[in-house]
Amino acid sequence: MSGEKTFILDGKPIAFEDGDTIMDAALRAGEYIPHLCHNPEFTPHGSCRICMVEVDGRQVSACTFPAAEGSGVVNDSDQLTAQRRSLLQMLFVEGNHICPGCEKSGACQLQAVAYYTGMLALDFTHFFPRRSVDASHPDAVIDFNRCILCELCVRASREVDKKNLFSISGRGINSHLVIDSPTGKLGDSAFAATDKAMHVCPVGAILPRHTAYNTPVGKRLYDRQPVNMVGDVAGYEETDER
Ligand code: SF4
Ligand code: FES
Repeated sequence: MSGEKTFILDGKPIAFEDGDTIMDAALRAGEYIPHLCHNPEFTPHGSCRICMVEVDGRQVSACTFPAAEGSGVVNDSDQLTAQRRSLLQMLFVEGNHICPGCEKSGACQLQAVAYYTGMLALDFTHFFPRRSVDASHPDAVIDFNRCILCELCVRASREVDKKNLFSISGRGINSHLVIDSPTGKLGDSAFAATDKAMHVCPVGAILPRHTAYNTPVGKRLYDRQPVNMVGDVAGYEETDER
């Protein structure tokens, strides 16, 4: 349309508004760019690198890079897909993502993006970390073995719940999620079932209690449609009754 600012994504013109990132404009236009740490409801974080695209030949993260008039963006290429598969594999081996035994299977974004990119056998050795499970809260369980450090719960608690209950501590392989409470346990924090932070975890790290297997495996969110068809927000919700 005349007067509209656009950039070209894989050959298609995408309209954008001032202040949009490439991800904002692409999702609004119904174009899927694989992502894990991005949720349009929160400040972009740019940490998982799954959304890397090429802008005029240079790799940038689509969730943080501003859309620019006339730029050429590549999202769909063999090289980017291979790179995304490698990053996903690293997430799988670094945590204990044993899908058949995880309550989030079928509604897990990590699993869904892995399917979308065609990730199959792992090329890296499993770490099999032994991290704790925090079952101290009456309404939620945190399995630290599955945390991918996306900071979605951190941002949800800070930006929406206004509680600032979560943060990431440590560096590199020692990075881990910590809870702000006198004991470090979720049950001694101000966390509540109604918190936004309860509903944004893209993997099975923060799991609500009392709802396990309400929706049978095979009928869950990504069992019914691939991640690129789900839309930009639904995929973050823990519920799959959509
Ligand atoms: Fe992300 Fe979930 Fe870990 Fe929070 S608990 S940082 S939402 S993976
Ligand atoms: Fe862009 Fe994670 S979605 S870096």
